[in-house]
Amino acid sequence: MASSALICDTEQWKGLQAHVGEIQKTHLRHLMHDVERCKAMTAEYEGIYLDYSRQRATGETMEKLFKLAEAAKLKEKIEKMFRGDKINSTENRSVLHVALRAPRDEVINSNGVNVVPEVWGVKDKIKQFSETFRSGSWVGATGKALTNVVSVGIGGSFLGPLFVHAALQTDPEAAESAKGRQLKFLANVDPVDVARSIKDLDPETTLVVVVSKTFTTAETMLNARTLKEWIVSSLGPDAVAKHMIAVSTNLELVEKFGIDPKNAFAFWDWVGGRYSVCSAVGVLPLSLQYGFPIVQKFLEGAASIDKHFRSSSFEKNIPVLLGLLSVWNVSFLGYPARAILPYSQALEKFAPHIQQLSMESNGKGVSIDGVQLPFESGEIDFGEPGTNGQHSFYQLIHQGRVIPCDFIGVVKSQQPVYLKGEIVSNHDELMSNFFAQPDALAYGKTPEQLHSEKVPEHLIPHKTFQGNRPSLSLLLPSLSAYEIGQLLAIYEHRIAVQGFLWGINSFDQWGVELGKSLASQVRKSLHASRVEGKPVLGFNSSTTSLLTRYLA
Ligand code: F6P
Repeated sequence: MASSALICDTEQWKGLQAHVGEIQKTHLRHLMHDVERCKAMTAEYEGIYLDYSRQRATGETMEKLFKLAEAAKLKEKIEKMFRGDKINSTENRSVLHVALRAPRDEVINSNGVNVVPEVWGVKDKIKQFSETFRSGSWVGATGKALTNVVSVGIGGSFLGPLFVHAALQTDPEAAESAKGRQLKFLANVDPVDVARSIKDLDPETTLVVVVSKTFTTAETMLNARTLKEWIVSSLGPDAVAKHMIAVSTNLELVEKFGIDPKNAFAFWDWVGGRYSVCSAVGVLPLSLQYGFPIVQKFLEGAASIDKHFRSSSFEKNIPVLLGLLSVWNVSFLGYPARAILPYSQALEKFAPHIQQLSMESNGKGVSIDGVQLPFESGEIDFGEPGTNGQHSFYQLIHQGRVIPCDFIGVVKSQQPVYLKGEIVSNHDELMSNFFAQPDALAYGKTPEQLHSEKVPEHLIPHKTFQGNRPSLSLLLPSLSAYEIGQLLAIYEHRIAVQGFLWGINSFDQWGVELGKSLASQVRKSLHASRVEGKPVLGFNSSTTSLLTRYLA
């Protein structure tokens, strides 16, 4: 395939399109009878077990998908990423989030320079700083030790760290390590979020970490100035040196803002915002809360998946299998959405993180060479932990639209699970649903079954479940920092696989720019009206009316 050609013009793509007709003749109810098929549609790595037998796919589908991967040069693209080639071509950047969790002795080059020592330089600095901070030797302006951290950032500078924090806080080892401390996040520029983030906090015992790759993001900078004012008005201007630190690629702007460069933690332009949780963006606030050793385990988990992703054959490669199946669902079976359903409350912030990771990466309209795509890339990701979601949107998934589901379960709960007198523990109750839902979706319930149950005739259509609704099950042995890192990396790589197959650039995000520049015009107009009493000018009639009403 020539480098500028589109994947949809290949024989392999067309072969899959033709194969859809075959699959349309099947039903999961019957496919699931084939024990050999079910056994073959599994993969395992370090105790993580993937079962994709409830996908609308056969062995032949998988063969065809592997051929598509070959046509898309998937292996070469993965290698290019790990080698530090500038695969983010529209920004002329390498894509090296894998270097953030690489062992100290690994060599990964960007621009001919091994980046691993720099990465470890920052990690060593975080380790040292977090130890000083957590030991109480780092004191605030009034001589008190700081026990609270507010991490100010948005998008990739927020969602990944929030997901990991939410997942770690109920892990016994991490919880023990975080005793007596608080980590809060401030993302939204909404004053309500400001109020929530500092509610019950005293500036005297609070450290603010400003996290921004660019250090120019309007919301983050306004929130940072707001919290600076909160500190200064209570403790005086000198307090900033002890109460504010930063994470950024733009250390000049950090200094200009008034944060001591000694208290700034760097990362690099080859780390995409939404892929930055393993940089100081996540590692710093999480180390302040849980200690560096726990965060290092999280990084090691992610690194273990990097190794698996780079070296395992596609047939046994969990992120590759997941990526191929998503492309099959979106581009061939025509399912535009995907539900992320962790049966784990600790993973409550996983779906919001994946929303950004996936939709900002793969929601593109042109190929990496700028050619308009004649097919739609990306998918709509959403989700909630089970069983909560079952009492919310599952009705639609069972009897309304077909939405491929990712069921994520954990064998060993983070928490003790007994409640005497019940027939199963809370965790078994949770997991009963994890095991039942995929079969309910796959098999459904036929009118014949309902008749045999003597269901009244008029209710038969309402109680019928067509079934044949695809899902996959990902079962993790437990949910410690290590597995949280593994889960993150599985999804990061899956999303990259999808982008590599579609032939798009999953690492830029030009689509967020237009809204930002229009907001800047509105901001200027609001200022001119409020401060100088000028009329609202330069907008269409609808926006003018809305603005006028707002200002009135
Ligand atoms: O608006 C999108 C985005 O550019 C994300 O990609 C990024 O993670 C987020 O904004 C925040 O950017 P920054 O870290 O530069 O403040």
